[in-house]
Amino acid sequence: MSVTRTALVTGANRGIGFEIVRQLARLGIVAVIGARDLNEGTAAAAKLQSEGLDVPVVALDVDREDSAAEAVAEVRRLYGRLDVLVNNAAILIDAPGGFKASLFDLESETLRRTMETNLLGPVRLIKAAVPEMREQGYGRIVNVSSGAGQLADMGSGYPAYRMSKTALNALTRITAAELGNGAIKVNAMCPGWVRTDMGGANADRSPEEGADTAVWLATLPDDGPTGGFFRDRKPIAW
Ligand SMILES: NC(=O)c1ccc[n+]([C@@H]2O[C@H](COP(=O)([O-])OP(=O)(O)OC[C@H]3O[C@@H](n4cnc5c(N)ncnc54)[C@H](OP(=O)(O)O)[C@@H]3O)[C@@H](O)[C@H]2O)c1
Repeated sequence: MSVTRTALVTGANRGIGFEIVRQLARLGIVAVIGARDLNEGTAAAAKLQSEGLDVPVVALDVDREDSAAEAVAEVRRLYGRLDVLVNNAAILIDAPGGFKASLFDLESETLRRTMETNLLGPVRLIKAAVPEMREQGYGRIVNVSSGAGQLADMGSGYPAYRMSKTALNALTRITAAELGNGAIKVNAMCPGWVRTDMGGANADRSPEEGADTAVWLATLPDDGPTGGFFRDRKPIAW
């Protein structure tokens, strides 16, 4: 008997997260929209409903410990399992001096808020989801990272965002090392530069293209990789 998989995608009311939900739902997975504003989440679900995709919504503010735990518990309560966690929600704060502000103009509050959402958020969700994944003997965790976090290609600009994504990559490696090469796969990916509110209108990729590798990692077969960093379904340097 085949199991119907259940996925929770954070920050899925718009952008790449929304597209990840759409693509997962098309594969027959129960893909749950995590949205910090339930109205926004419900509006996103209605859009997918008009395409014939039945997509549930849960309230989820990744900045809040209780919200992360409750969202995971709610998915379990509704569907009895949680197979896939996509840590997609993130912020890129337009700090004084612009996104590209120098490290020397970076305010501690900008760094603190960025780490709260982009790093602590995924930590919270992983800690909430892994016990269930262990129990059911199956799990796929996808951390939506960025080339901006690659140490191999580290440069200036976006200092808070860059550091948060490097840290997310470290979280990916640590989680994968703790879980071993078994039933739960943990990987990071870079969607490329994507036309969303964050990426802007000039980005060279569509949300469909940006979501593809995350969906691939979310549905890896049992012999798929763990502890890797991917773009366009291919490994990239940390
Ligand atoms: N776009 C790009 O070019 C690009 C490139 C590399 C990596 N990425 C990564 O791809 C992912 C998605 O980016 P995007 O371009 O789709 O961004 P986006 O259009 O700005 O959407 C961000 C999503 O995250 C949500 N979010 C922010 N803070 C949250 C919180 N505390 N709790 C719950 N949800 C929260 C937002 O919800 P609200 O609507 O409530 O604000 C929104 O749904 C991010 O991890 C980003 O770093 C994007």
